[in-house]
Amino acid sequence: MAGPLYRYFIDDHRRLEALMNRAVADPEKIDEAAYEAFRGGLLKHISMEEKILLPAAQSARGGPLPMAAKLRLDHSALAALLVPPPSPPILSAIRAILADHDWIEESAGGLYDLCEQSLGGEMDAVMAKVRSAPDVGAIPHNHDPNVLDAVRRILARAGYDWDDYSGK
Ligand SMILES: [Fe+2]
Ligand SMILES: [Fe+2]
Repeated sequence: MAGPLYRYFIDDHRRLEALMNRAVADPEKIDEAAYEAFRGGLLKHISMEEKILLPAAQSARGGPLPMAAKLRLDHSALAALLVPPPSPPILSAIRAILADHDWIEESAGGLYDLCEQSLGGEMDAVMAKVRSAPDVGAIPHNHDPNVLDAVRRILARAGYDWDDYSGK
């Protein structure tokens, strides 16, 4: 389980966790620079998994991965949570969803393990695409309070309840 793909994506998970930890280190004030680096990094990470890993693994295995649908729903929930400006409930939702999500990807039999097992001779080409994936540019936050209704709906579709995080 220690192939190049596994190491690359696990290192990226740890790098993003460190940025998030820095963003919330002072409970009185979010470190905005750290949060924006986390946000751009997570959007790029999700895009690499959706556009490169999942399709490559699916074609190598001749069918979708068992956890692909769940991972895609989680990705949509995480991306939705990155749209409004960060708040304590947004931050706790992101951290809770990511903790389980990353485990599904990292564990034995998880996404990265299955990719390592199935890509075979395609591995070098897949890793070349991963390494040259473009950075995600700065996207402005949507400050419209109605955006939280959309967040609530997208979380519900992925099996999460916004009220668990918003303290309602
Ligand atoms: Fe993911
Ligand atoms: Fe990941």
